[in-house]
Amino acid sequence: MNDSPKFPKFGPGQHLISVDQFDKENLREFFTMAQALRPIAERKQICTVLDGAVLCSLFFEPSTRTRLSFESAFLRLGGEVETTTGFTFSSMAKGESIADTSRVVSGYTDVLVVRHPDAGSVAEFAQHSVVPVLNAGDGSGEHPSQALLDVFTMEAEMEKKGRTIDGCTIAVMGDLKYGRTVHSLMKLMSLYDNVTFQLYAPPSLELPHYVSEYATQSGSRVIECSHQIEALSGSDIVYATRVQRERMTEEIAKSKELQGCLLNRAMLEEANALDIIICHPLPRDSRPDSFDLATDVDDLPGLSIFRQTDNGVLVRMAMFLTTMGVSMDIVAAKTKAKPWKVTD
Ligand code: CP
Repeated sequence: MNDSPKFPKFGPGQHLISVDQFDKENLREFFTMAQALRPIAERKQICTVLDGAVLCSLFFEPSTRTRLSFESAFLRLGGEVETTTGFTFSSMAKGESIADTSRVVSGYTDVLVVRHPDAGSVAEFAQHSVVPVLNAGDGSGEHPSQALLDVFTMEAEMEKKGRTIDGCTIAVMGDLKYGRTVHSLMKLMSLYDNVTFQLYAPPSLELPHYVSEYATQSGSRVIECSHQIEALSGSDIVYATRVQRERMTEEIAKSKELQGCLLNRAMLEEANALDIIICHPLPRDSRPDSFDLATDVDDLPGLSIFRQTDNGVLVRMAMFLTTMGVSMDIVAAKTKAKPWKVTD
């Protein structure tokens, strides 16, 4: 994945394929815009700024939150959405290439959101599209919109403690090999100063070298830990991830190292970390012995997993507005109080 084509800094008219299209400056502008969109994302205001625009979301892998929050974001901005899910209902099932599919679909719409099982595939969509393409996850490659909402949420959680991400220590745990959210997260967090990553992965699921190299070359510290307690000790944040069983052989997926629990309350107690900020990209695998985040942490104040999912809408709104070149002044002119009420 490290030899995939480079795309320009994210801005008007640009695809978003990798978090390496952000630097400190456009990340700060992006988060400022995302925060300003909160009343629309939280359904306190109605916006029609994307009236007449059409999004096509192409999801060739299962998704709940990424697809629905991208689509909600576009709809809440006044646009319309067309969706294709799975290969079965696409002419790719008849052998159509990514190149042809992308050129055809981009002729019908104003922006594409694409999830595909192969690393590098969304970059290929972008190379053949006549409209901007946003990467919603390419195999074990990257998941930039997830990393943006993760870091946006972590900033808010650290601010509650009077801290910033600069100087923080984060335990990153779980399937670090196939977990694309981790790859994007570590690259994006490396824009901050003096970040320490304490990694724990079960055997055969260690972080790819190119990601740790990216982080260390950006000035972050990467420490490999041999168990969960070691990774948690001294950490401000823990980022836990699901085992991506669909991306590995059945033999590895069923190995004894991938049974049991990745992170639970007892481990946090042992590491003296009950006040830690707990993040997870979700989904959380709730089946027995899934080697994921246990539900016995759900009443801890640092549990941020649903604040992350809620922030997915405003972050993805900011992605659309940025690539479509819409400023917050134009958004304000097309926004009004809502005349109906469901929730506050
Ligand atoms: N975090 C994430 O990508 O979730 P979905 O697979 O449900 O979209």
